[in-house]
Amino acid sequence: MSKPGYIHTFSKKEQDRLLNQGQFLEPYIHRQIDFTNCRHVLEIGCGVGAQISILARKFPNLIIDGIDLVSSQISRAESTLGDLIANQRVNLKIASAYELPFPDNGYDGACVFSVLEHVDDPLAVLNEAHRVLKFGGVLYCTEVFNSGLYIYPNCPAINEYWTAFNQCQIDMGGDPDIGMKLVNLASAAGFKQIDFRDVSPILDQRIVSKPQRADFLNFWKSLFLSASGGLISEGRITSAVVSELHEEFNALIENKDTVFLYSGKQIECYK
Ligand SMILES: C[S@@+](CC[C@H](N)C(=O)[O-])C[C@H]1O[C@@H](n2cnc3c(N)ncnc32)[C@H](O)[C@@H]1O
Repeated sequence: MSKPGYIHTFSKKEQDRLLNQGQFLEPYIHRQIDFTNCRHVLEIGCGVGAQISILARKFPNLIIDGIDLVSSQISRAESTLGDLIANQRVNLKIASAYELPFPDNGYDGACVFSVLEHVDDPLAVLNEAHRVLKFGGVLYCTEVFNSGLYIYPNCPAINEYWTAFNQCQIDMGGDPDIGMKLVNLASAAGFKQIDFRDVSPILDQRIVSKPQRADFLNFWKSLFLSASGGLISEGRITSAVVSELHEEFNALIENKDTVFLYSGKQIECYK
């Protein structure tokens, strides 16, 4: 199976970053995900298993299946989730989100995190999610809205970099603003009772500790820079802009007036 166009790459460093991302985002994106009444759920595009390990910890009675198109992601997930696999709480498969290798009406719940932004036919993925869910089954889908990035004070290099990053994702067939389209997509796929929520991480003066402020901003810096090699080699951005981006992030860490909001959206909906 060929690899999808994927702006972040499948390197070991990027796999490590995904595991770190799972922990960083947990307080924002898992707060309202409730699989208490479910026994068997599916994560579509499970990557290296970052979200499955959180779900398995939060819902100890859950059996979780995960699929991903890329074998190296599934291999890393198998080592991350080794104990859960041995205890038959987690099953992983290499498969396409467009053709889930599961029968109709089988799952109590399903979830998708940061996958629809990378695919060229997000509706086809939600159609498949709908097909494999039982009637009454719940889907949670969490995606980015990259145009919603807000930074104060203004950071021209970060803005220039972000514009190039997002255009590259569009050119690869993805949609960096897919979060805003989740309700329409879920509705087109036949889901009902669709709830739409904001799950955006934000830094402002509520985060007081300097190390915490630095951790917050350094997390986003590393996410942005995960694409920098490709953006530079394709001539979309210069290394001078990347150097300025580092300086602007450092200045944001020092500035007590900084506001940094990365926009994330989530839906909960039912078959
Ligand atoms: C940003 S990662 C997110 C991984 C995981 N959901 C998480 O939040 O940690 C996106 C994943 O989607 C997978 N992916 C992209 N297109 C896919 C497709 N058509 N079918 C299955 N997986 C796909 C990629 O291989 C990658 O592992």
